[in-house]
Amino acid sequence: MTKTIGILTSGGDAPGMNAAIRSVTRAGIAKGYRVIGIRRGYQGLIEGDMFEMNVRDVSDIVQRGGTMLFTARSKEFMTLEGQQAAKRSCDNAGIENVVCIGGDGTYRGALDLSKQGVNCIGIPGTIDNDISCTDYTIGYDTALNTALVMIDRIKDTEMSHSRCSVVEVMGRRAGHIAVNVGLATGATEVVTVERPYNLDDICAKMLSQKATGKTHFEIIVAEGVGHSSEIATYIQEHTGIDTRATVLGYVQRGGAPTCLDRVIAARIGCYAVELIDSGAKNRIVAVKNNKLVDYDIVEALAMTKNYDEHLHRLLDSLSL
Ligand code: F6P
Repeated sequence: MTKTIGILTSGGDAPGMNAAIRSVTRAGIAKGYRVIGIRRGYQGLIEGDMFEMNVRDVSDIVQRGGTMLFTARSKEFMTLEGQQAAKRSCDNAGIENVVCIGGDGTYRGALDLSKQGVNCIGIPGTIDNDISCTDYTIGYDTALNTALVMIDRIKDTEMSHSRCSVVEVMGRRAGHIAVNVGLATGATEVVTVERPYNLDDICAKMLSQKATGKTHFEIIVAEGVGHSSEIATYIQEHTGIDTRATVLGYVQRGGAPTCLDRVIAARIGCYAVELIDSGAKNRIVAVKNNKLVDYDIVEALAMTKNYDEHLHRLLDSLSL
């Protein structure tokens, strides 16, 4: 009997998810598997919203942002009844393996589904890069570069008006996007959850830089800190410098994936199929020092990731 791989994307979409779907589909078919695309993540699985994919179904998606399989955050799947319904859908479609593309929430879903007896392989796909077991998540590089381009544009107008820009970037609770784009765009300061901050110190830093001739400023605020409008008001009131807040928002989640995201997605997708083919059960694929590795789902969920404090200190040392 032909073995079957289901694929789903869950949680926030990320550029490069399509490239991963393409890779899993084609690598799976090449190894003799039937490949089933499951729409709208675990919710679609519960509802049996799925279709068999052939190699042409994944043509011309490698360069596209978003996910051709759609995505969802399913409340129903968080219940045992939902998980049992998902297992029934797998049985009805003959799916023994599901490749689950997404972040931590997706892996918790994969763990629940695995407890119902379905083999689940997780692929890291989120712009936040906040999955502990991996150095890198699909979509992160694209989001960094999108935020970078947007901030460069804000800088043009901030410079022309001699203003301060407070720019809020995504990342859920993590400051990885914030500190990287902060360093890459020459920010005055980056405010993240991971490092305690003091708005009076930031104002004092701006005023001392102004005294040496600096005319415009950029403060990057991580989504987890939030309150970018209040921060902008505080800065304006305490420095006298005209300050505007911009929340970059969902623009960071869309767009064509970068070369790095496409290449990583292709590698990880293929690796996931090789894992299934080797008989591995319930693993998460991760990137460690540019090598692909895999961990048990429970082990992966228990890991913690360090914030790059060195990068933040480097930004401090260069923001003069
Ligand atoms: O995980 C990706 C992400 O864009 C986070 O940066 C953000 O906190 C969250 O998703 C937003 O989720 P939603 O699409 O539910 O608004």
